[in-house]
Amino acid sequence: MSNILTIAMPKGRIFEEAVELLRKAGYKLPPEFDDSRKLIIDVAEEGLRFILSKPMDVATYVEHGVADVGIAGKDVLLEEERDVYELLDLKISHCYLAVAGLPDTKMNEVAPRVATKYPNVAEAYFREQGEQVEIIKLNGSIELAPLIGLSDRIVDIVSTGRTLKENGLIEYERIIDVTSRFIVNPVSYRIKDLQIDEMVERLSKVV
Ligand code: PRP
Repeated sequence: MSNILTIAMPKGRIFEEAVELLRKAGYKLPPEFDDSRKLIIDVAEEGLRFILSKPMDVATYVEHGVADVGIAGKDVLLEEERDVYELLDLKISHCYLAVAGLPDTKMNEVAPRVATKYPNVAEAYFREQGEQVEIIKLNGSIELAPLIGLSDRIVDIVSTGRTLKENGLIEYERIIDVTSRFIVNPVSYRIKDLQIDEMVERLSKVV
């Protein structure tokens, strides 16, 4: 069995913060981490292999065991309900999920529609509110939907609030706070418990 620990990392905006956190925890990550298009980066000295994936896919790699551990947003974990353990709140990439839309508009009473990248979260939220809505799944630029009449509301991530503001949208309800989490494949955790516990310990000291 390989004693290399494979870690799935989310590309994009969480990536830089995650790399910074790992460096703070003492992991020596080469300059490739700052400017590269490589999707697999081996750091032999640390016994680590990094897989750079789409944020939405991190938990999929970890669930299937092709990555032992990963860094995933709580938004993704809520949406996908993957069979992984969540061991640590890394407290990076703070943002929240919210319901937003055009100002001073009511939901369509006959056929309310909600556009989102998070259909499960959105559906559960509106069900809890006792509202039956049609969910329209989009893959990005969710803020477009109410602007062009595709939906009454959106459920999306708000970070700085700039995207809402610059598109003339307002927040109606805050659903849940989101940060990045350290997740683990259950089988890997049994086999590589010492390595994984060491990583959790080093990370927990710097979060
Ligand atoms: C996310 C999110 C919002 C935006 C929020 O999109 O879906 O659109 O960031 O950030 P802000 O509050 O700081 O403006 P992302 O940039 O990840 O791209 P996407 O449209 O492909 O989802």
